[in-house]
Order: sequence, then structure tokens, then C-alpha cells
Amino acid sequence: MNQARRPLIAGNWKMNHGAASGVQLASDVARTTAAFGSVDVVVAPPFSALWKVADALQGSRVELSAQNMHPKASGAFTGEVAPGMLLEIGCKWVILGHSERRAMFGESDAVVAEKVKAAMDAGIRPIVCVGETLDERERGDTLNVVKRQLNAFLSIIADKPGFAAIAYEPVWAIGTGKVATTAEAQEVHAMIRASLAAIGPAMAEKTRILYGGSLSPKNADGLLREPDIDGGLIGGASLKAEDFSKVAETAQKIAG
Ligand code: PGA
Repeated sequence: MNQARRPLIAGNWKMNHGAASGVQLASDVARTTAAFGSVDVVVAPPFSALWKVADALQGSRVELSAQNMHPKASGAFTGEVAPGMLLEIGCKWVILGHSERRAMFGESDAVVAEKVKAAMDAGIRPIVCVGETLDERERGDTLNVVKRQLNAFLSIIADKPGFAAIAYEPVWAIGTGKVATTAEAQEVHAMIRASLAAIGPAMAEKTRILYGGSLSPKNADGLLREPDIDGGLIGGASLKAEDFSKVAETAQKIAG
């Protein structure tokens, strides 16, 4: 972490927690992270829980995110949700290009870029995910793959330096308990930082680059101390307020 950027800790609940248990979890997160004033805290519940969770978070410091979004404003897109609809219920953030969406729902770099543009235009802060598969890592392709994914949207987020965040999530570390070493993560984060610097100093200084992939209270300290890791995107460990807030507490301690 670097003092120039506030740490960002985001919980990706994926397809877990409906409105009732989601309200409970969000309220617990709001209570247990209330003292960590140096850290930005975000939760991303499923669509069906957003409205009630937004109510539960009223008056707290925890911000709301969606996990996906359609790029168009309205129309015949059965099953999809538009940017304006997310704004209306209080979403400040949206996770885009998650590897599960890329792999299972066929989201290409071009689709992700279109969504990033729509979010930026609507004023919703995107957390854009990038990351290599195990195969790609073993072939020595990690940096190339992540660069390709980045190049699809970097110019789009350059309009407002610091508005968007990037999450580096090695696919082989997601939900597997297999976390990247601090050196493996920092190497990719440093490359992402250099790509941001190539656009301009403000982009490099202001853009938060999160690590994701089996991030937990056990490994957060080492990862969050790396100079180019500015926070975390947390799946499994975000489903228990205690674990999630411990990661936020670690970020708070490091940020001082
Ligand atoms: P995980 O998921 O923490 O369960 O590995 C992270 C993510 O997919 O965002």
C-alpha cells in the first residue's frame, strides 16, 4: 500500500445471500468496520438484495456495489439491469469483467470495455477485473494476458483518474484457497501501475489496484503491504462479517 491512495476493501458476495440474510450481513459489516476510517469499504450483494441492503447501509460508511451491469440504458434485454437502475437504488460501484463472467457468460474484452464505458458515462465507479488462468501462468503468459485485458479499457477510465479501480485476480487463486505469493501479486500489480503511468502520473497515483483470489485475514497483511496493492476484492471471506472486517482492520493498521 502507498499513503497516496486510500485502501479499498470490497466484498463480492457472488450468488450468495438473498435480501433477508444480506441485510443482516451488511449491517454486521457496517458495525464491525465503522471504526476503520482510513479504509473505503464496499459490499456487492446479488441484484435481488441491493434495494434492502441499500436501506440497511443508510448512514454507514459502507458503499454499495453491483456485480454486473448491462451497458445500455433500457430496452429489450431480458434479464439484464441498466446503469440508471443501479444508480437509482444507491449503487456507487459495479464489478465488471469478473473472471466468472468472462468464462461462464462469454464476456470478451470488448464487452467488458463497453460496460466500463457505460459505467463511466453513468457515473458508477467500475471495479474492473483482470487475471490469468493457470494454463496461461504456466505458459509464462501472465503479463501478456493481463496487459491485453487492461488495454481494452485503460483509455476509457483515463477520463477521470482514480474514479475506477482495477482488481488483479489470478483465476487459479479464486475460491481455491491457493493464494498468489506476495511477489507473484506485486509483479503483476507493478506492471499494471506502469501501464497506468504510461497514460499519465495522475492515473498511476490515484488508481487503486486491488488483489483478489483467496484473500483472507490469514494472508491479507503480507499482500496489503506490497507497494502496488491498494486493497482487496474478497469473495469467500466476505460472506462472514468477522473475516471481512478483519481484512479491513489489517488495511486500517497498515494505512495508519
Ligand atoms: P475468493 O473470490 O476470495 O473467494 O477467491 C474472489 C473473487 O472472485 O472476487
